[in-house]
Amino acid sequence: MTYPSEEMRKPSRVLIAGGTGYLGKNLVKASLAQGHPTFVLVRPDFVSNIHKAQLLISFKQAGAHLVEGSFDDHDSLINAVKKVDVVISTMAENQLLQQLKLVRAIKEAGTIKRFLPSEFGMDPARMEHAKEPANVIFQQKMAVRHATEAAGIPYTYISANCFAGYFLAGLAQYNQFVPPLDKAVIYGEGNHKVIWVDEGDIAKYAIKTIEDPRTINKTIYIRPPLNILSLREVVGMWEKLCGRVLDKPTIHEEDWLITMQQDKSMTFETRVAMAIFYHIFFKGELTNFDVDGKEQLEATQLYPQVEYTSVERYLSRFV
Ligand SMILES: NC(=O)c1ccc[n+]([C@@H]2O[C@H](COP(=O)([O-])OP(=O)(O)OC[C@H]3O[C@@H](n4cnc5c(N)ncnc54)[C@H](OP(=O)(O)O)[C@@H]3O)[C@@H](O)[C@H]2O)c1
Repeated sequence: MTYPSEEMRKPSRVLIAGGTGYLGKNLVKASLAQGHPTFVLVRPDFVSNIHKAQLLISFKQAGAHLVEGSFDDHDSLINAVKKVDVVISTMAENQLLQQLKLVRAIKEAGTIKRFLPSEFGMDPARMEHAKEPANVIFQQKMAVRHATEAAGIPYTYISANCFAGYFLAGLAQYNQFVPPLDKAVIYGEGNHKVIWVDEGDIAKYAIKTIEDPRTINKTIYIRPPLNILSLREVVGMWEKLCGRVLDKPTIHEEDWLITMQQDKSMTFETRVAMAIFYHIFFKGELTNFDVDGKEQLEATQLYPQVEYTSVERYLSRFV
């Protein structure tokens, strides 16, 4: 009988860049929970931000190692990257190209076994046709992919579909993060299937992939079967849970497009969100393709032991 060497049995050491962010904090927790020595890249300015400072100290108390580093200091990135086997980035959407510096450091270090860049949404490789200005985000995510692949860095791309906190909690009502009790606007017919995923679950699946040889150089889609539901189905589920019937006015695709293109008073972030809503809710682009099982794999099939949060269970917290 052969036994894995001591080296093989050691859990991978993980560095998270963006660990204080909305998704990143979930990855720090999942990495620690799955037994990985976990390092969080800490930018020098964290001391002046009370939320970050307290979150980072809580990570430290939970067993994470804080590593100071800056995207403007190449040597500090090399130093951080050399401490680990796996690098996960959850950089903010307005900082995606900063990751090119991280890719350069990973290439130079030459020891990283897996890199997960900041993706976690719609698959950018499928979104060449995306409406402005969401196309910029997808193009930047593709630029990071191209740099990663050109550098020969082993990668896994996670396509996580709709974050529950952003989309499900407010029944996809823009900028609303608890379910409404009176009215829910329906986009178009509201019948396209959408995929809603709890952020803690996204983090669990992402961490599962990092040592899995099946996921090397693959795109992993997270498609929990119970959570593939149209907006109308989700609103109906909420109506049952809260015991009320909501007013459900519809917005037509043409009207949405006109607002998107003509209302110049909206911020860049709002225009990005409107374009993403368009592709998800009016065009059904989270579910209009099959995962091919070769270059693309599905997370709940790879890791059936993970108990994910169903849409119903997620919404029931608001009753
Ligand atoms: N599928 C969905 O529904 C969905 C929803 C939202 C986001 N996403 C995706 O998830 C990924 C992470 O997004 P997020 O919302 O979690 O990000 P976030 O909270 O906005 O930011 C994540 C991290 O980016 C870093 N950052 C922000 N500004 C910076 C700056 N000026 N210089 C250097 N670093 C800076 C910070 O890292 P530190 O302070 O820790 O260094 C921050 O914690 C993105 O790729 C985004 O597209 C998907």
